[in-house]
Amino acid sequence: MSHDDFPTDRPAVVTCGLPYANGDLHIGHLRTYVGGDVYSRALDRLGQETAFVSGSDMHGTPVAVNAEQEGVSPEEFALDWHERYAETFPKFNVDFDNYGHTHDETNTEITQQLVRDLDEGGHLYEKEIMVAYDPVDDQYLPDRYVEGTCPYCGAHARGDECDEGCQRHLEPGEVEDPESTISGNPAEYRERTHQFFAVSEFADYLSKFLDRLEGTSNARNQPREWIEQGLQDWCITRDMDWGIDLPGENPQDLVLYVWVDAPIEYISSTKQYSERVGADEFDWEAAWKEGASDEHPEGGEIVHVIGRDIIQHHTIFWPAMLEATDHAEPRAVMASGFVTLGGKGFSTSRDRAVWADEYLDEGFHPDPLRYYLATNGGFQQDVDFSWEKFAERVNTELVGTVGNFLYRSLLFAHRNYEGGPDADAPSDDVAARIDEAVEEFAAAVDDYSVRALGDAVTDLARYGNEYIQRNEPWKLVDEEPAEAERVIYDCVAIAKAIAVLFEPLAPEKSERLWDQLGEPGSVHDATVDAAGEGPAGDLSEPTELFEQVEDERVEDLNEKLEARVAESEADETDDDDEEGSSANDADTTDDTDMTDIEPLSDDRISFDDFQELDIRVGRIEDAVGIDGADDLLKLTVDLGAETRTIVAGLKGLHDVDDLPDTKVIVLANMEKAELFGVESNGMVLAAGEDADLLTTYEDAAPGTKVK
Ligand code: 2FM
Ligand code: ZN
Repeated sequence: MSHDDFPTDRPAVVTCGLPYANGDLHIGHLRTYVGGDVYSRALDRLGQETAFVSGSDMHGTPVAVNAEQEGVSPEEFALDWHERYAETFPKFNVDFDNYGHTHDETNTEITQQLVRDLDEGGHLYEKEIMVAYDPVDDQYLPDRYVEGTCPYCGAHARGDECDEGCQRHLEPGEVEDPESTISGNPAEYRERTHQFFAVSEFADYLSKFLDRLEGTSNARNQPREWIEQGLQDWCITRDMDWGIDLPGENPQDLVLYVWVDAPIEYISSTKQYSERVGADEFDWEAAWKEGASDEHPEGGEIVHVIGRDIIQHHTIFWPAMLEATDHAEPRAVMASGFVTLGGKGFSTSRDRAVWADEYLDEGFHPDPLRYYLATNGGFQQDVDFSWEKFAERVNTELVGTVGNFLYRSLLFAHRNYEGGPDADAPSDDVAARIDEAVEEFAAAVDDYSVRALGDAVTDLARYGNEYIQRNEPWKLVDEEPAEAERVIYDCVAIAKAIAVLFEPLAPEKSERLWDQLGEPGSVHDATVDAAGEGPAGDLSEPTELFEQVEDERVEDLNEKLEARVAESEADETDDDDEEGSSANDADTTDDTDMTDIEPLSDDRISFDDFQELDIRVGRIEDAVGIDGADDLLKLTVDLGAETRTIVAGLKGLHDVDDLPDTKVIVLANMEKAELFGVESNGMVLAAGEDADLLTTYEDAAPGTKVK
């Protein structure tokens, strides 16, 4: 089934992954929230009825552990951070229709009801499991209260995820050699009775759901592999005090796992919004509940915007919960890449980050950061932040292209035409170009591409600059005044279209432009129809919309950031004992040491030489050791047209059991070589000392040529 293009007549809900209420926000976090806000505003501009919601994630061990370390109650600790987040998001024009939190009455009620429904539907069962326990402190140790060794890859791991190794979600009882993160005491395993959600029953449903799911390709493709590997049922209770109580009989005083009540906040927050504005304005039940609306019994258009580290929760656990309880299924998941610094992940605990407040304290306007975060690379790609790159995008695109066109056009119009230039409508070519920009904008929404939303505007401004330059109204104004007025009217029409189409990316600047154009009301209420209507306002004296970031400023900011990064690297050997919000944070991204990078080669090769390299996508089918070879593995690699044996130096650097099914890049016409008696027919490409395997980002099949 494919979905109708936006706008549809179903209510849409755009959600952003809930930040754990436990620490400062940095610009890495903001990438997801800005992405969600841009997307929701773009739906609004298309005339789609949309609610944009999120809230703070108050429960779970990420919050409880930090509160304990600060010596305050988890409630006090989490509420304090919640209030700070509720103040911070609007400063970046991230304008949620409702920003709630998971510990309030609405979410407690809806969560407990949904768990009862799961139970009544026969989707829950009890099971005895081993739970880590600190015998000295007499305390059970769920999730991040415990750390140890990952049973899958042997890396040091948290109780709930293998954050330093294979990134798998770990169920209670799985981590080996457990230790308390609070006391450092060795833990023992004790038997407890917990509730399980039978996710495995939903494997067929989830496979079909993924065929329908829209959004970024990482969110649609990664979960298929997890389903193929076999889904595990999911323990939904924890031995701790902080959280929402398991409803019904609860002799062990268990609370629900944080990942049960967190996504349910998407529903609760929508309900709170509906209650505030009235169901006529937005009906949360029609959006979330199957059968609540006669017109659209399947529910609304649910779009989740998240960080790429929580794809599994949003494409496996959450849709299974929704399906089991007759809720609408998500239409799309947009999973953003991380923001890195010098190739390394941001780290809250090591102060290796550009902080949200710091950006504003430097005196920058929020909209350039929104533009940069939303348009720098594809949404799902990791982007490396530097002040130079930020300044370059601001100076070239916002100041040089968009700002320059607007200022020169509006200044000329204001100086020469009292009340603004007059015409019935924009000329045909200009009207057609504006329509094209509106179509690009709508296509970007259907492609879930916030970057393409930006391109639609910068391309239109480029056209505007070229149009005014080609027609030179300043030369026509004396000799052909009517023609001059027509040209500048066209330019003002383009400026008006820019105001509407740029609103999602630069809401405050677009509103200022709307005012300068003398348009009535607010651009936040305008739809794309207004973009083509031609200007009608009384122009006021324009001011430059965007400010240049000067080189000295960049140098100064760089110095500060470099000093901070150097300090964080000096601390790197210290234990990282802080539990940041996982989305776009720390220690889950690669830690490449940038100081060891070799200089780039000056020896150029011709394109013809490059063409001689037959580089292909491959899929490893099998990996085994080779007698007598310490570092080598014998790989069987599917290259589409044939299957090859390739010897590669991966032993000890990769877990042999993890390699089958891994997509790799192969130099297929490498000369054959015999190594330890095995003929190697090709070369698997990998980066660096750790043999980080090259792969493809999307769906390229084995045999596809890399060019
Ligand atoms: O990983 C995190 O930061 C979680 N707090 C995200 C929760 S998103 C949701 F609620 F589904
Ligand atoms: Zn692991």
